[in-house]
This record gives sequence, C-alpha cells and structure tokens, in this order.
Amino acid sequence: MKTYLVTGGAGFIGSNYIHYLFKKYDDSIKIINVDKLTYAGNLENLKSIENRENYKFIRADICDHEVINKIFELNEIQRVVHFAAESHVDRSIKNPEIFIQTNVLGTLVMLEAAKAAWKLSDGTFKADHKFLHVSTDEVYGSLEENAAYFYETTPYAPHNPYSASKASSNMLVKSYMDTYQFPANITNCSNNYGPYQFPEKLIPLIINNALQGKQLPVYGDGENIRDWLYVRDHCKAIDMVQEKGDLFEIYNIGGHNEKQNIQIIHIIIKILREIMQDQDPRKKNIDENLITYVTDRKSHDRRYAISPDKIKAEVGWYPETIFEQGIKKTIVWFLEHEDWLKNVTSGEYQRYYEEMYSAR
Ligand code: NAD
Ligand code: DAU
Repeated sequence: MKTYLVTGGAGFIGSNYIHYLFKKYDDSIKIINVDKLTYAGNLENLKSIENRENYKFIRADICDHEVINKIFELNEIQRVVHFAAESHVDRSIKNPEIFIQTNVLGTLVMLEAAKAAWKLSDGTFKADHKFLHVSTDEVYGSLEENAAYFYETTPYAPHNPYSASKASSNMLVKSYMDTYQFPANITNCSNNYGPYQFPEKLIPLIINNALQGKQLPVYGDGENIRDWLYVRDHCKAIDMVQEKGDLFEIYNIGGHNEKQNIQIIHIIIKILREIMQDQDPRKKNIDENLITYVTDRKSHDRRYAISPDKIKAEVGWYPETIFEQGIKKTIVWFLEHEDWLKNVTSGEYQRYYEEMYSAR
C-alpha cells in the first residue's frame, strides 16, 4: 500500500487532489495530509473523507523541520505531493515575507526531510519513492499579446513576490535533482478554477460578489489574459506525472484556454442569470452594471499562456474539461454550497476585503 504525503491538502487544489486520489485508488493507498490551516486551509473541504481509515490529517507548518522529519520517520512515505504555499499574488505584494518563509524555506524543509528519509548508504535513493513539486506558470513572467507560449525551456522572469518565491522554490527542487539525483518532478500549471477555491481569487470572488449584489472589481482595463484549467484536470496531470512521467523532468500543464478577465466576468454573469431561479430576489441585481474598473494590481502580468505539448507527448495527459462546462459546474457548485461560501467569507475575510478593495 503506497503512502502519500500531501502538503497543503486542506487548500483549494490540495483538497481536490485528495478527493481525486481516493476516487481513483480507494483503499489501495494511504494519505497523510499535512496542513498548517492558514486562512486558505479548510477542513470542511475534506469532510466526506475525514473518517476513512486510510486518511490522516496532521496540523503542522512545513517550515517546522522537527515535525516534518518525524512524520517521515514514523511513516514509510513513497509519494510526496507538495502543494503547501502562500498562493495569492495580491497578498504577496502587501506582505512578501511569509511567501519566502513558506514557499522557499518550507520547500527546503520538505526536500531535506525526504532526502534524509529516502537516501541509501551508497548515496542513491530508495526505488519508487518520488517527490512532486506543484508550481505555476507565473514563474515565466508575462507574455505580450502575440508572443509564443511558455515552454519548459522558457527562462524564469517572475514579476511579483509570489512568483519570485515559486521560481526560487522551483530552482531549489531542480538543484536537488541535479546535485543529489533526488527523485523529483516539477509541474508548472496555469490558472485553476473549480470547487473549494477561496474567494480571494478572481472566479469565486466574482461569483460571491454577484450573489451579494456587490461591485465586481476589475483590475486595470480588464484585458489581462489568463489560461484557465479545471482543477480536476490539474489533479489528473499531477497523478499521471508521478506514475508515468520520467523522473527529473519538468512538465508544463495548461488547457489552451486563454480568456481576458473581463470575458470571464461576463460569462459568470450570463451563467448566473441562466441558472438562478426567477423567484430568487438576488437575480434581478446581477447584471453588467455591477462591473467596476478599479486601480490595477502593481506589476500586473499581462498574459499567461502555457504549452502542454510535452506532457501530452510524453505522459499522455490532455485537458478533458471544456471551459463552458467547467465554469458552469463550478458556478452550480458554489450555488449548492452557499454555507461553505458564507463560512469562509465571514470574519477575517471581511477585514481582508476592506483592506484590499476599499481604497482601490
Ligand atoms: P491555497 O492557498 O488554496 O492552499 C494552500 C494550502 O497550503 C492551504 O491549505 C494552507 O493552509 C496551506 N499552507 C500554507 N502555508 C502552509 C505552511 N507553512 N505549512 C503547511 N501548510 C500550509 O492554494 P492553491 O490554489 O490550492 O495552490 C496550491 C499549490 O498550487 C500552490 O503551491 C500554488 O503555488 C500552486 N498553483 C496554484 C494554481 C492556482 O491557480 N490556484 C495554479 C498553479 C499552481
Ligand atoms: O497562473 C497560475 C496562478 O494563478 C497561480 O500560481 C496563483 O496561485 C493563482 O492565484 C493565480 O494567480 P492570478 O494572479 O492569475 O489569479 P487571481 O485570481 O488573483 O487573478 C486572476 C486575474 O484577475 C488577474 O489578472 C488579476 C485579475 N483580478 C483578480 C481579482 C482577485 C481582478 O481583475 N479583480 C480581482 O478582484
């Protein structure tokens, strides 16, 4: 029975990944989820699997090397899937330090602990033990409108503290592969969307604001482009890289689904109006008049667009969810989980929203 150590498994992609693994492997694997439960971590995301005998949650900080080493000592871990990170660009612009701590130093702790646990006396590593570092297309910086896609060979050019911290963590992982032949992979994925995404990110924030009849904040001219991928497709790619990819390789993941932010907002308004009941009093407030252009994000990357050619050719992965279906499923999920949305947007979130948006 393979044991997975998933870091950041209470966050958006991590919790989707844990659901994905249990659906696929059921009782034939064991998962240990290590999460600090920052504002972005939410055990509600894992309610339906929390009592499984082959699942264990440990609340811990990945920067705490004693606890992390102990977890490796007490468990024969064969797969590490490292999601834990501070993940929001706007927060990194206000408070970069925690991004360096968690994303860079935390990754170093994870690498050191896995290296110590997996190393054999001759300097090689235990067979079939693998570390996957989950990273982002933001490490490649920003593209002009007609520029070629990001490829695995594109030089790094991060423009904000979040992407700089992720680029640094990628380089650390690469250095472990090169220096020690440490058995790892790095994946760089484009923007994810889907269930359990925290409403500080564009899509759930727009859905939440629209439902409340609040302004829909668009940074700058709204024409910045992101390449959107349904979260389950990302989870499948990660699993395929670990099971079918070549060790030491870097794989880019994306859906060839470039959209301007303003297009995304129009799509969300249209779908909400289509699927909400006419008798729902909120429906009449949801229209284009809510769209509000606000001060741009500092150093706002203009366009992300990533080529998944390598993962398609070498691993056989391709994006399965077409955007029109994925975004509809996502909006339906948020409408069916309004309690979840209410819980995560109370208290601390209100303060965050005030601080980020009131003076914009
Ligand atoms: P998220 O912010 O929703 O979740 C992050 C999780 O990490 C939370 O559960 C949080 O509690 C946990 N965490 C934070 N600091 C920790 C620490 N010090 N120790 C232990 N746990 C800690 O993030 P997400 O959107 O799910 O992203 C997950 C990973 O995927 C990140 O590494 C991110 O860089 C990467 N990524 C995200 C996207 C995207 O579109 N969201 C795209 C590509 C790559
Ligand atoms: O590309 C992958 C990255 O995607 C991940 O590495 C990050 O963890 C993830 O947060 C995401 O980064 P972005 O900065 O692209 O995502 P965000 O949802 O914050 O913003 C998407 C776009 O929408 C971006 O151009 C900024 C804009 N935006 C965002 C918010 C929150 C708005 O116009 N208004 C908003 O209120």
